[in-house]
Amino acid sequence: MPDIKSEIEKRRTFAIISHPDAGKTTLTEKFLLYGGAINLAGSVKGKKTAKHAVSDWMEIEKERGISVTSSVLQFNYGGYCINILDTPGHEDFSEDTYRTLMAADSAVMVIDASKGVEKQTIKLFKVCVMRHIPIFTFINKMDREANDPFELLDEIESVLGISTCPVNWPIGCGKEFKGVYDRNEREVSLFKAAMNGQKEVDTKNMSIDDAALKDEIGQAFFDKLNEDVELLDGASAEFDIEKVQAGDLTPVFFGSALTNFGVETFLQHFLKMTTPPLPRNSSEGIIDPVKEDFSAFVFKIQANMNKAHRDRIAFMRICSGKFTAGMESFHVQGGKKIRLSQPQQMMAQERHIVEEAYAGDIIGVFDPGIFSIGDTICNSNKKFAFEGIPTFAPEHFARVRQIDTMKRKQFIKGISQIAQEGAIQIFQEFNTGMEEIIVGVVGVLQFEVLEYRLKNEYNVDIKLEPLPYEHIRWIENPEEINMSRIVGTSDMKKIKDLKDNPLLLFVNSWSVNMVLERNEGLKLSEFGKNN
Ligand code: G4P
Repeated sequence: MPDIKSEIEKRRTFAIISHPDAGKTTLTEKFLLYGGAINLAGSVKGKKTAKHAVSDWMEIEKERGISVTSSVLQFNYGGYCINILDTPGHEDFSEDTYRTLMAADSAVMVIDASKGVEKQTIKLFKVCVMRHIPIFTFINKMDREANDPFELLDEIESVLGISTCPVNWPIGCGKEFKGVYDRNEREVSLFKAAMNGQKEVDTKNMSIDDAALKDEIGQAFFDKLNEDVELLDGASAEFDIEKVQAGDLTPVFFGSALTNFGVETFLQHFLKMTTPPLPRNSSEGIIDPVKEDFSAFVFKIQANMNKAHRDRIAFMRICSGKFTAGMESFHVQGGKKIRLSQPQQMMAQERHIVEEAYAGDIIGVFDPGIFSIGDTICNSNKKFAFEGIPTFAPEHFARVRQIDTMKRKQFIKGISQIAQEGAIQIFQEFNTGMEEIIVGVVGVLQFEVLEYRLKNEYNVDIKLEPLPYEHIRWIENPEEINMSRIVGTSDMKKIKDLKDNPLLLFVNSWSVNMVLERNEGLKLSEFGKNN
C-alpha cells in the first residue's frame, strides 16, 4: 500500500497562464507526451472543432464539456505525479479562470516570443502574485521571428514587476534558430525539429568550449552567444531558489513547444524547482498536507453537465490527507456530514471515477446544490475552514430587465442561483432595492450563458442593456467611509453587492486614482473578500 506521505510528496499541481495563442495547449500536449499519457501530440483537443458559435447553448455545453475534460490533466513523469490545471481562455475566459489559480501551487507562464507580455497574461499574473506562488516562464515560438531576448526580459520585469533569471538562452530565432545555451551546464542544445514535434526528440548537446561549436552554429552566432553570455552573467539576477519559491523571481526558459524543443528540459527543471503541496492557512491555523486527515476546498462549480438533470459538479482541490471514494466527510459551511459521491478525475482525456486521491489532486464530486465557491470539506475533528476565495473584478457590466414582470420570483431565484455558482456577479444600485439589477462578468460569454439559462431553466426572458463601466473596486474600509460623502468623478457609479457591501464602478481607469486622491482615507481593492 503506498503510504500517504510519499504519494503527496510526488504531487506537483500547477496551472499554465498565457494569452490565447501563445501555445498553452501545445505545451500541455508536449508535457503529456513526455508523461506517456498520449502517444502522438496533437490530440488534446480538436482546436478547430472546439471553436463554438457563441450564441448556441448546445455549443456552449459542448465547449464546457471540453473544458471539463481538460479541467485537470493528471500524468506521471520521472517519479512525479503531475496535475495540470486548465485555465480556460479565449471566449470562455471567466472568473473560473482566476479561481483555478487558487487551486494551483505554481504557475507556468507561456509567452509568445514575437508578442511579449499580453493582456490576459497580465491579468492572470496578478492573481499568482497575490498568492505568492512560484512562476516559471517559457518563452515560446523561438522557431519563428522573435523579439530580442533582452527586450523580452526587460518587458517581463517592467510590465509584470518580477525579476527574471534566464536558465537558458536562445541562439538566433526563426529560420536561423540554432538552439539554446544552458547557463548552468555551459552547454548548447542544438535545435532539431523532429517529426513536426510529435515525438520526443533526442537533442544534440555541445559544450560552449567545444571548438566544433563554431562550425555548428556559425561564427556570427558563436560570437553573439559569447557576448550575450558575458552580458547576462554581469547583469541578470542571480538564481535564488528561495526567491523563486516566494514568487519574487521567475526562472526563464526559451524554446519552441510546437517543434518540441526545450520542453523536456523545461519540465525537468520545473519539477526540481517546485515543491509538493505546501501547508495552507485555515481558521484553525496552518493545515499540514501530510499530517492532517482529508480536507479540500471547492474552487469551481460546473452546472448542467448532464442536460437531463439539473446537477452540478463541484471541483475541489485536496489540501491534506487522502481521499477515498464514498468516504464520509464534513461540509464546514453547511455544518453537515456528507458523503462525497461520484468522485471523478481526469486522466489525460478521459474522465473516470476515482477510488483514491491525495493532497495536491483535484476531484469533481456530485453537488446536489449545497456547495458554494470557497467551501471547505474536512475529516478532521477540529472543523476548520480554508481562507475564502476572493471575488475577482468583473470587466463587463449590463443592466438586466425581465421582460415579463409577473415572473419576478423565478427571475430572482434563477439569477441568484447562477450567481451562487459563481458564473456571474450581481449588484444593485446603491440606494435602491432588487428592482434594478446590474450583472458583472469577467468574460462576455457569461452574458449569453445567463440569458440562455434563465430562459431554459427558469423560463424567464431577460433583456441585457450593456453599461459602459469596465473597472470595479471594492471598498476595503467601508466602516470608515460615509458613502454619501464620497467625492466621485462624472463616470463613477455607486453600487452594492448582495451582502450590501459598497462598491464603485468606473468607465475610465484613471478615475480610480482620481477618486482615491479626492477622498482621503478611502481604500479600494480589485479583489472582493468572500466568506
Ligand atoms: P493556446 O492554447 O495558448 O491558445 O495556443 P495553442 O497551443 O493552441 O497554439 C496557438 C497556435 O500557435 C497554434 O497554431 C500552434 O500550432 C502554434 N504554436 C504553438 N507553439 C508554437 C511554437 O513553438 N512555434 C510555432 N511556430 N507555432 C506554435 P494554429 O495554426 O493557430 O492552430 P493549429 O491549427 O495548429 O491547432
